[in-house]
Amino acid sequence: MSTPNEPAKPSASAGSAAASLSQVTIATPAEHDGDEPSEDTISSRGRKAKRAKETKQQERDNDGIGPTGRPYREIPEPPPLERHGPALVMAMCNQKGGVGKTTSTINLGAALAECGRRVLLVDFDPQGALSVGLGIQPHELDQTVYNVIMERSVSITDTIRKTRVDGVDLLPSNIDLSAAEVQLVAEVGREHTLLRVLRPVMNDYDYVLVDCQPSLGLLTVNALTAADGVIIPLECEFFSLRGVALLIDTIEKVQERLNPKLDITGILATMYDPRTLHSKEVMARVVEAFGDIVFDTVINRTVRFPETTVAGEPITTWAPKSAGAAAYRALAREVIAR
Ligand SMILES: Nc1ncnc2c1ncn2[C@@H]1O[C@H](COP(=O)(O)OP(=O)(O)O)[C@@H](O)[C@H]1O
Ligand SMILES: [Mg+2]
Repeated sequence: MSTPNEPAKPSASAGSAAASLSQVTIATPAEHDGDEPSEDTISSRGRKAKRAKETKQQERDNDGIGPTGRPYREIPEPPPLERHGPALVMAMCNQKGGVGKTTSTINLGAALAECGRRVLLVDFDPQGALSVGLGIQPHELDQTVYNVIMERSVSITDTIRKTRVDGVDLLPSNIDLSAAEVQLVAEVGREHTLLRVLRPVMNDYDYVLVDCQPSLGLLTVNALTAADGVIIPLECEFFSLRGVALLIDTIEKVQERLNPKLDITGILATMYDPRTLHSKEVMARVVEAFGDIVFDTVINRTVRFPETTVAGEPITTWAPKSAGAAAYRALAREVIAR
């Protein structure tokens, strides 16, 4: 597979998680099912109407061509399942932070569950953002994924928790996990630790989504060793292509040395802004570099997502009729079809 050339300009990171979270205004339940922030001003309504018009026009102009610049592929209806498991393990991976790994893990998980799939979400980042995003306070937990991987007496089934979303369970994490990276180095079979601890529950789920931390360290290598597929969320910003070559190199090494069944399931473009030429240009570069593995589904940039983090639930339940919810449902169908 081809990898993109490094962009020539010096690095400057795009918006951080902290920056987007500081802009959050929480909508009241009656307001929160639209696609736009919920400021209730006349000028905001005017803007909304204008944007809706623009979107309609765009759809007419596009004639079935998606934001990837390709026609949408035909995706079959997800078949109903007669029984559950064994699970496919997907690592949500990109060593760059703030690209939408955690957001995509929660919302793809919830959308897969809407298709009748049983889903386990594994928080494999000591920041615990996935746990927070599902309404769990990581510092209050006394058993997390850390205990499961480091202490043989702690069972995974006792540590997995139900979430408010039907069909979605969580193996939570907190800052304790940051010690694991160092401690695992001395373990026998250190790269296979996650694979080993997941084994007892593999038949209970159809999908296990592992939310990786923003690094290519031992925890991420564990996730890749346990995985059947990798989903790479990629922010539609010029500098996001930097580092993807290194990520793909790591994936290929894991494939060669530890896990021959590992595959790149797909590349997910996130934080896309259909109104900017910049987003379109980055999208074109991504499709040029990676071709068919780029999902047709593209996630637009919207304040709906930071809001859902604060609400502690996926967008599919927080704003079920929003464009963001529809996008993750479309992604779930693509993932099931691949
Ligand atoms: N499509 C999106 N549009 C706008 N903000 C988003 C989108 N996806 C995620 N965010 C926000 O960006 C920040 C980083 O996203 P996150 O999923 O935590 O990234 P990562 O896990 O890769 O660090 C969070 O505040 C999140 O709410
Ligand atoms: Mg994250």
